Amino acid sequence: MATAYDIAMKHTEPEENDGAPVVAVEDVRKTYASHTVLDGINLHVTRGETLAVLGRSGTGKSVLLRLIIGLETPDSGSIRIHGQDIAGLGMDRMGEIRKKMGFLFQHAALYDSLTVAENVAFPLVHHRRDMSRSERGDRVMQLLAEVGMEGDVDKMPSDISGGMQKRVGLARALALEPEILLLDEPTAGLDPISSGEINDLILKLQRERRMASIVVTHDLHSARTIANSLALLDQGKVVIEGKFEDLQQSHVAFVEKFLKQS
Ligand SMILES: Nc1ncnc2c1ncn2[C@@H]1O[C@H](COP(=O)(O)OP(=O)(O)O)[C@@H](O)[C@H]1O
Ligand SMILES: [Mg+2]
Repeated sequence: MATAYDIAMKHTEPEENDGAPVVAVEDVRKTYASHTVLDGINLHVTRGETLAVLGRSGTGKSVLLRLIIGLETPDSGSIRIHGQDIAGLGMDRMGEIRKKMGFLFQHAALYDSLTVAENVAFPLVHHRRDMSRSERGDRVMQLLAEVGMEGDVDKMPSDISGGMQKRVGLARALALEPEILLLDEPTAGLDPISSGEINDLILKLQRERRMASIVVTHDLHSARTIANSLALLDQGKVVIEGKFEDLQQSHVAFVEKFLKQS
């Protein structure tokens, strides 16, 4: 007999994830001068899914995220967000799409001259003019509580640890309730304990918010912990995409080497 849970699940499943890619990267190429960084990349992420993009440094992982955010344009191929090709979109339309994206950059995650609370408030000040000052204050506190930083609101970024800075960066990335979360090396430079805490936090946020997430990392352990699927890049191409077990079973020389060295 179907339980209430089964019925509820059946009811919500199609809404939860209709299988349509939220982000679709199709045959994307990007060359700087004569250096081809991305050479025909295909990747898709659906709602509730976390894709980890792995690769050695210099393989174009950050470039890929910049293309998805629309900060740069591919030489060929397309980036589709909810089916819409972002190439050639005007500033207004791209601005609307970007509001649906939360991102955490690899370096300089925070504005040095703003407090923790002001950093998190920043996207709200710029994009949620409808919010009153007190609504904004409440929202900032709620976001900081979500990442376990509610006790450090008035501190400056230079006065908190790297792991705490990443937490605040995550809170800021979530401020506009994004459907898409893009994280560039969220655990780089952190000690193992702080890395573990950030991984747990990313998992928690993903469980609660069911975004379409792409996490760029060279940290295999982190990728394995937080992602549903992993894509390994090398020399401009996706060498393999699948679950961690698929990577483990692969006999492709580069995959074996990457796993051994990680
Ligand atoms: N704006 C740019 N101009 C020229 N070369 C660039 C630019 N951005 C990135 N690159 C080059 O693209 C390659 C990939 O960079 P990046 O995406 O930052 O690597 P990763 O994030 O995988 O470490 C590097 O060789 C880098 O020098
Ligand atoms: Mg990078």
